[in-house]
Amino acid sequence: MPQMKQRRQNQKNLRKRPRLPASVRSRLQDELTEVTRHRAAISDLLRAIASSPHDLQPVFDAIVDNANSLCEAELGVLRLSEQAGLRLVAVKSSLPFSPPELLEHRSFVGQFAASRSPVHIPDLAAHELYRRGDPYLLTSVDVGSFRTALYVPMVKDEELIGVLSVGRTCVQPFTDQQIELVTDFAAEAAIALQMTRREREYRQVQNELAHANRVATMGELTASIAHELKQPLTAAATNGSASLGWLMRNPPGIDEAKRSVEQVIQDVMRASDVIDRIHSLVKKHAPRKEKLDINGAILELVGLIQSEMLKNSITTRMELAESLPHIQGDRVQLQQVILNLMINAIQAMSDLAGGERELHVTTELITSEGVRVGVRDSGPGFSAESLQRLFTPFYTTKPNGMGMGLSICQSIIEDHGGRLWASRIEPQGALFQFTIPVT
Ligand SMILES: Nc1ncnc2c1ncn2[C@@H]1O[C@H](COP(=O)(O)OP(=O)(O)OP(=O)(O)O)[C@@H](O)[C@H]1O
Ligand SMILES: [Mg+2]
Repeated sequence: MPQMKQRRQNQKNLRKRPRLPASVRSRLQDELTEVTRHRAAISDLLRAIASSPHDLQPVFDAIVDNANSLCEAELGVLRLSEQAGLRLVAVKSSLPFSPPELLEHRSFVGQFAASRSPVHIPDLAAHELYRRGDPYLLTSVDVGSFRTALYVPMVKDEELIGVLSVGRTCVQPFTDQQIELVTDFAAEAAIALQMTRREREYRQVQNELAHANRVATMGELTASIAHELKQPLTAAATNGSASLGWLMRNPPGIDEAKRSVEQVIQDVMRASDVIDRIHSLVKKHAPRKEKLDINGAILELVGLIQSEMLKNSITTRMELAESLPHIQGDRVQLQQVILNLMINAIQAMSDLAGGERELHVTTELITSEGVRVGVRDSGPGFSAESLQRLFTPFYTTKPNGMGMGLSICQSIIEDHGGRLWASRIEPQGALFQFTIPVT
C-alpha cells in the first residue's frame, strides 16, 4: 500500500514539472535529431573501417554516402590531397556525371581546399569563375547539371588530407545546420581516415619487414633445403634407372618397371612439395586469416629443417596434442614465428660444448587462452637481464644477427590476438611459448 502511495506522489510531482515552451521543445528535438544523425554517420564510417582491414575504398565510399545523406545532396565527391593535386577517390551521384580524376592544387577546388574553411556556393552558374569560363565549373554546371555546391576541406594537424564536396542539381542552398553537420563529419572523417592510413602504412612496413625476415631465414637454410630437395630427386633418379633396367630385361619386367615408375612419381611429388613450401614462405602476400591446423603447419616446417638438425647433432622431440581445435590465422606468418623460434634454438644449441642437444616442440589446448605452442631447447639459455631485452628490435648477441627475429614474432602473435613470452629453464635451456585464441 505505501508503495502505491509513493507512486501516485511521484506521478503528481512529474505533472507539476513546468512544461518547456513548444519552440524550445522543437529546437531541442531538432538538435537531438541532428546529434543522432551525426552519430549514425560516424558509426557507419567506423564500421566500414573495421570491416575492411586491407582496402580503403569502402571507407572512402562510406564517407561520401554519409555526407550525401547528412545534407540531402545528390552528388558527393571525395578527393585526397597528393603532390600532383586532388585525386578523386570516391563519387556518389544519381546522374551519369564523372568528375575529373585529378584537380591541380591551383584549380577552383584546390584553392578552396587551401583556404582550410568550408565554401558554400548557392549557385555555381552565378559564380564569377563560371562566367570567366573556368573549365571545372563549366563541366560541373553544363555537363553535370550541378548548381549548388559545398566544399569542405578535410584537415588533420594542419595537414590538408582532402576535400569532401556535396552538390545539388537545382539552386537550393544548404542550410546552416546542414553545413555544420557536414563540416563536423568531415573533421571527424579526416581524423579517422588519417589514423587508418597511418596504421595501414605501418602494417605495410611490418609486412615488408616480416617478408624480408622470411627471405633472410630461407637464405640461412639454403644448404638444408638443398639437401631436402636432393633426397627425393636422387631417389627419383635411382627409381628411374631401376625402371629402365626392368624394361631392358628379356622378357621385360613390366610389373616391376611400373612399380618403379610409380615410385618416381612419388619422389617427384615430394620434391615439388618441398618447393611449394619454400615458395609459400618466400613469396610476398597480403596477410590473411584462415582456419588452420597448427600441428600440420609445424610438421611441414620440421621437414624443412631436418638436415639442419642433423648437421648440428640435434634431436627433435614433438609432443603435439591430438584433436586440437583449428585456429584462425595466417599460415605463413605463424610458420615464420615457429621457424624463427626453432632457428634461434638451433643456433643457441650449436654453440654448446657438450651435453644433450634437444629441440622440444609442444602444442596443447589451454582452456583460458586457446592453443599454446612451445619451443624449448637445451642450449645455454639467457640471463635474467637479457630476458628483459629479447623482444626489443635490434637486440642481438650474435655476430651476424639482426636482432629482428623475436620482435617480428611478437608483432605477428599480437596481431593474432595472442601473446609470446620467454622463460629460462633450469639448469639450462630456453623456452618460448605463444598462444593463439581459438575462435
Ligand atoms: N633459444 C634461445 N636461447 C638463448 N638465447 C636466445 C634464444 N632465442 C633468442 N635468444 C637471444 O635473443 C636475441 C634476439 O633474438 P632474435 O631472434 O630477435 O635476433 P637474432 O636471432 O639475434 O637475429 P635475427 O634477426 O637474425 O633473428 C638473440 O641474439 C639471443 O641472444
Ligand atoms: Mg633470430
